[in-house]
Amino acid sequence: MSRPRLIRPVTSPFDASLRVPGSKSITNRALLVAGLAEGTSTLTGVLDADDTRAMAAAIESFGATVDADWDAGVATIVGIGSAAIAGPLTLQANQSGTTGRFLLAIAATGTGAITVDGDEQLRGRPIGDLADALVSLGARVETPSATQSLPAVVHADGLSGGEVSLPGNISSQFASALLMAAPRMAEGLSIRLTGELVSTPYLDMTVAVMRAFGAEVQEVSGQGFVVAPGTYVACDYAIEPDASTASYFLAAAAITGSTIRLEGLSSASLQGDMEFAEVLAQMGSTIRHHGDSIELTGPSRLIGVDADMRDFSDTVPTLAAVAAFASTPTTIRGVGFIRHKESDRIAGTVAELQRLGIDATETDDGMVIVPGPLQPTVVQTYDDHRMAMAFSVLGLRNPGTRIADPDCVAKTFPKFYRALDELHPDLAPLVVVIDGPAGAGKSTVAKAIAERLGLLVLDTGAMYRAVAHSAIARDIDLGDWDAVGDLTKDLRIELDGSRVLIDGADATQVIRTAEVSKAVSIVAANPRVRDVLKNQQRSWMAAQDGGVAEGRDMGTVVFPRATLKIFMTAAIEERAKRRAAESLDFDYDAAVADLRRRDEVDSTRAVDPLAEAHDAVVIDSTNQSVEEIVDLVVSLLGDLVRP
Ligand code: DC
Repeated sequence: MSRPRLIRPVTSPFDASLRVPGSKSITNRALLVAGLAEGTSTLTGVLDADDTRAMAAAIESFGATVDADWDAGVATIVGIGSAAIAGPLTLQANQSGTTGRFLLAIAATGTGAITVDGDEQLRGRPIGDLADALVSLGARVETPSATQSLPAVVHADGLSGGEVSLPGNISSQFASALLMAAPRMAEGLSIRLTGELVSTPYLDMTVAVMRAFGAEVQEVSGQGFVVAPGTYVACDYAIEPDASTASYFLAAAAITGSTIRLEGLSSASLQGDMEFAEVLAQMGSTIRHHGDSIELTGPSRLIGVDADMRDFSDTVPTLAAVAAFASTPTTIRGVGFIRHKESDRIAGTVAELQRLGIDATETDDGMVIVPGPLQPTVVQTYDDHRMAMAFSVLGLRNPGTRIADPDCVAKTFPKFYRALDELHPDLAPLVVVIDGPAGAGKSTVAKAIAERLGLLVLDTGAMYRAVAHSAIARDIDLGDWDAVGDLTKDLRIELDGSRVLIDGADATQVIRTAEVSKAVSIVAANPRVRDVLKNQQRSWMAAQDGGVAEGRDMGTVVFPRATLKIFMTAAIEERAKRRAAESLDFDYDAAVADLRRRDEVDSTRAVDPLAEAHDAVVIDSTNQSVEEIVDLVVSLLGDLVRP
């Protein structure tokens, strides 16, 4: 599993245009139907993701040929036409729910024993109602006892079709599966959907793709569909960008007061998830449709909504992330069935909002979200791409949001994080710098802030100390700038969190003696030493992709474009007392005298003297606890990312 990924907050509103990758749902329907069609089809806008590659591999397994340029989103497919799909054969769906369900129905129209399988997560998802429907049509479907899940072995000898009924309130994927298999049945199929129907836009999408490939489908209003027997006919088909994926970028603009234009998505979209934009409009966003694109501008203040999301349920985690920043509560209803998606998206979304400090509660068919202050945390993602993407969006406005197992987005959008980063006008990583005199509390506060934000600390004083210690150990004259400069170049100083290593040896303790403290000011005034260490400090920050750096010239010289600059001070008596805790050989009066001397040397030296950056926030730590200061810093960062 990949390391948690820190999301960079947006520090000023962006204005961006983007074409998100093709719709997963349409890609998988078009791939399947093209694979069953007579002739050669060319699909454009094909989504490159784990789920669509699973479908492409599966149609190849049953005899279609696929020539795909995944980067360009183009696939040329020669379908099997009226040829039979003959077992013994195994069709592998991996993690893809649509692939598993659609292929099960298609397998039932074949001959012989055809196994449909998936990975462990997909094996845990239900297929019972679909299997029952296929059995009622004359197929024999073996599933592991009791669970009615994959792997399933279908024994069939073609299906004659006729009539079938299916509960409409479980998963529209079952009905879509029967619809797409229906033309291959000798008499076609009349599908009756009983009970309340979920996700009808997905059925409309299925019918639209089938019709594009020549199928005859009639809708019987409120009841179901009648599909005529026949063979799909190959065609050239352009797949729309994915509306569920679009939701993350619309949400990103909505919560940061930014503007986003999404190309290729219009009000004529086949995808129900476009409804999500309307909910963001109710929350205060402004939406404009321009022919072939949609544009959204976020408001300065979001208001909560009461939304029945049954027809666009894939965007529930996205709306939850937006709701966290609204000024009033949000209720999400009508989506009890999303407990059976890649993860239980009701329980998971609520748990992660709570982890972030939000008052969220589950209901039977949704959740209630009461917005409030958020805190930095590592968000769990349950191997669910939509959880990872939705909470990444939340991280754009909550500094210190980290996403566990970030690579799970590959299921539908492997380049998601790159697209998210491209929204920022300024690609600078999150850099917090803390300067100030010795004993002002920099290192304690730096560690606490780093902990809260999921960053590492760069203690630059330790680097100067390491040079001073090494010079003393080698009897080098501290006043010989060239000699000490040469030494600095040759030293390998490593800061691995709590320890300091010099050329691989642990020097954490030895650089803290009074002797080193006395010598370090001389070393730190050496321009050659500063030059070498400054470069090392910048490389460290670039390699870590952000961090908390503490020292004397972090804000003024080394990181002049830091996200947030803090200058810490404290009364000298307090600073001397704090030194007691760090020093191995402590004497109060000597400590005060030493601090006065070092303040003088550090702030009057010719190169990079200790000074406040003009844009630094000054914090006096004399009478403040570490927690109070960390809270202040986190809220300062929060102010930077508010619209
Ligand atoms: O933070 P500290 O006391 O460990 O720092 C040791 C010395 O290093 C301090 O006297 C000043 C110097 N220093 C510096 O000149 N520039 C920095 N960025 C950090 C420390």
